[in-house]
Amino acid sequence: MKTIRDINVKNKVVLVRVDYNVPCEDGKVTSDLRVRASLPTLNYLREHGAKKIILISHLGRPEGRDKSLSLAPVAKVLEKLIGNVSFVDDVSGPDVESAVRKVKNGGILLLENLRFFAGEKKNSDDFVREIIDSTGAQVFVQDGFAVIHRAHASTSAIANHLPVYAGLLLEKEIVNLERAIKNPKHPVLLIIGGAKVDDKQPLVDKFAKIADHIVVGGKIAADGYDGKSDKIYVAEDFDENSEGEKLDVGPLSMTKIANYITDAETIIWNGLMGKAEDPAYATASVIVAEMMGEKHDATTIVCGGDTTGFVEHLMTEHEELEYSLVSTGGGAALEFLLGNDLPGLEAIE
Ligand code: 3PG
Repeated sequence: MKTIRDINVKNKVVLVRVDYNVPCEDGKVTSDLRVRASLPTLNYLREHGAKKIILISHLGRPEGRDKSLSLAPVAKVLEKLIGNVSFVDDVSGPDVESAVRKVKNGGILLLENLRFFAGEKKNSDDFVREIIDSTGAQVFVQDGFAVIHRAHASTSAIANHLPVYAGLLLEKEIVNLERAIKNPKHPVLLIIGGAKVDDKQPLVDKFAKIADHIVVGGKIAADGYDGKSDKIYVAEDFDENSEGEKLDVGPLSMTKIANYITDAETIIWNGLMGKAEDPAYATASVIVAEMMGEKHDATTIVCGGDTTGFVEHLMTEHEELEYSLVSTGGGAALEFLLGNDLPGLEAIE
């Protein structure tokens, strides 16, 4: 895979696809995980003399322009993290041209939400051309790992117009996820939780061939998941509320799960062990997160939006926790692990 280390970006206008599809409430970003995850690439480009860095992203799933899904609040977050950031509420045309002219050396300009424009999801060459013509971009960096499973203009058609290189976040995600499926260090442990069995079953099927053990917790287990294999351990006791709802994996099961974690050299965790948004039922998820985060010699991968959000929060309280990868891509990570086609990756390769 060609990465930004393979190009000379000095004095170049670099177009970077990031995934700033971040949770927002009342015009404020409530998790900056994906913004922070883009910093290594942005710092690299600055340190290596990029003249202007133009960022493109989507936010949410708007049908046309929608003020509540503007990327303007994200530009403010980025400005606080890295400085010299501006924003323009379009992706092409005179306003963009003028905003690009104002960008100072090494400065960053974030364009408006790509999905305000039909061309993005239509994977339109014309749409890409307009962005390139308005920004003067000379090179394209794909760092929006979370969106590489989409065949959109900013992941796919772009490769028809500019040389494409992977950013450092995309590289980190791919290297770690690949480590889990190609020649992983054994024992390999897959931990599955959450509520939607249909979403998780393909992962269980895939890892039936790769993993030494598969652990199933969360609502899937509480609802009586049928493991159908010696490799699969389904949680057997649960913490319940007064109505008898099974809301967290219980201590007996957690003792067994903890043993699997202790022995494992590669761990992939997708899906919370219980109703972890309620601290009373977060115990099992905390144990998994802490045990994984303390295994600094193992490959430890956390994926899936709820799970990564939970771990990210825990990491702010416990600095000693470290993972090989807290994936920024829910759907994309799943598709990669399953070995499905990823248009954004094909565009680089
Ligand atoms: C995500 O949050 O998974 C990515 O940003 C992709 O968003 P999408 O599912 O709306 O394409």
